[in-house]
Amino acid sequence: MTIHIGAAPGDIASTVLLPGDPYRAKWAAETFLEKPRLVNEVRGMLGYTGTWRGNEVTIQGSGMGMPSLSIYVNELIRDYDAQTLIRIGSCGAMQEKVGLRDVILAMTASTVSTPSRGMFRELQFAPCADWSLLRAAAAAAEAQDITPHIGGIYSSDTFYDERPDLNEQMVRHGVLGVEMEAAELYTLAARYGRRALAVLTVSDHLQTGEALPSDQRERSFGAMVEIALQAAFA
Ligand code: ADE
Repeated sequence: MTIHIGAAPGDIASTVLLPGDPYRAKWAAETFLEKPRLVNEVRGMLGYTGTWRGNEVTIQGSGMGMPSLSIYVNELIRDYDAQTLIRIGSCGAMQEKVGLRDVILAMTASTVSTPSRGMFRELQFAPCADWSLLRAAAAAAEAQDITPHIGGIYSSDTFYDERPDLNEQMVRHGVLGVEMEAAELYTLAARYGRRALAVLTVSDHLQTGEALPSDQRERSFGAMVEIALQAAFA
């Protein structure tokens, strides 16, 4: 047990999927895993372990934003020895060519600041995905007849922006979408030599103002979970 995860040693698999929303963890575990069992409910941040095609998998909520994700990922890596960590989450599209429900595989994650920023001081670290996972996720998407967008994303600290100029610079520089967690996930994976990837589904569009109604979110999020599971065990 750790401060934020109540699972017993051995109850967390070496492959962990990380949705931001704990109820999405419950939904994904009940939909995709065989024999899912609740392994964490500290602070309501639900985590489940089960099997997928005979492979053990944990699906653990990470909460919203990098400080929250950082707590769970630090404990998953340092205390439970998680080796492969895949964020499955939503994002806002930043380019016209990216549509609602599209899947983005985040090759890099630009950011103003992660919880790790202090240790890098003047250095601008470049958080990037694990290549083996990225390649396997691209292949898994194509096998499902999904053409993913693959490129840079922006991990923001704010959902309600008082600095729209930052979004504008990201758009100008070809960044595909905005979310709030991947840069810290990639930084921690780099620090501890683990594999990480963010597979994202577009839930809203910054250019057009469109947004998926909540009842349609789950259905489109299923493809992303399948891609993440196939990539983890490719
Ligand atoms: N996650 C989903 N949509 C988002 C947005 N527009 N900004 C930040 N994070 C998001």
